[in-house]
Amino acid sequence: MLPLLRPAARRRARSEGDCIDLLGGELPSTGRVQDLMRSRVVPQIYERWWRPGLGRFLKGVFGPSMADEHRIAHLLLTFARGDGVLDVACGPGNFSREFARVVGDTGLVVGIDASLTMVRRAAQDSRNADVDNLVFVRGDAVDLPFKKQSFDAVCCFAALHLFADPFKALDSMRRVLTPGGRIAIFTTCHGRSGPMRTFETLAGRSGGMRMFERDEIVDALEKRGFDGIRQRVAGFTQFVGGRLV
Ligand SMILES: C[S@@+](CC[C@H](N)C(=O)[O-])C[C@H]1O[C@@H](n2cnc3c(N)ncnc32)[C@H](O)[C@@H]1O
Repeated sequence: MLPLLRPAARRRARSEGDCIDLLGGELPSTGRVQDLMRSRVVPQIYERWWRPGLGRFLKGVFGPSMADEHRIAHLLLTFARGDGVLDVACGPGNFSREFARVVGDTGLVVGIDASLTMVRRAAQDSRNADVDNLVFVRGDAVDLPFKKQSFDAVCCFAALHLFADPFKALDSMRRVLTPGGRIAIFTTCHGRSGPMRTFETLAGRSGGMRMFERDEIVDALEKRGFDGIRQRVAGFTQFVGGRLV
């Protein structure tokens, strides 16, 4: 994986147990949700309780389940064996591990997350998962440390709304994709009704979560040269995917 890093990032790289640490400290916090992701407790309960529970609330009662989310990721990212995949803001590796199984021994999955407690948990769970083509890096999604055109697919689920500069993060994701590469985003989506929008904005702001407009991510991907863009809105969330021309 080290050859994929930009020279400056490679010089900063420190091994941290089974992970690679490129930050060496905390990024400035964007709010309460971000702080919780860095705690010791949330990474321990994240995959089993936190993510399905909060996801259900945000996606709505009839919205996609966690299993559906995995299916949507596959649909949008159309993996082939041997692919290089970047899981941006991978958390405890809940999607990365499955991606690693699908791309097989000849492929590589890199999970990047700014939280040390999250990447440690990701590495720990992956040791028990019988995958050896999976690497976890502690780094900033807004300024991805990889060389351009390093990956065939980039996934960023449940995180874009937490980043200090989500559009710079999208620039970064585009830069590391090969031509024809696929992107899949799962993030927040504003409703249409006025009072509800105010509630969503205030609730989001109090946690440090940005609420995106319905067309904002689609437009942002189009502007960055993605084609065949698909969007599914569920409750206060949206899935968006496309292919880089
Ligand atoms: C809700 S979790 C998402 C985990 C996983 N992708 C999922 O779908 O369940 C959000 C993650 O974003 C990470 N994160 C927030 N800001 C980040 C940044 N600037 N760079 C990298 N990771 C970041 C947090 O540490 C946290 O692990």
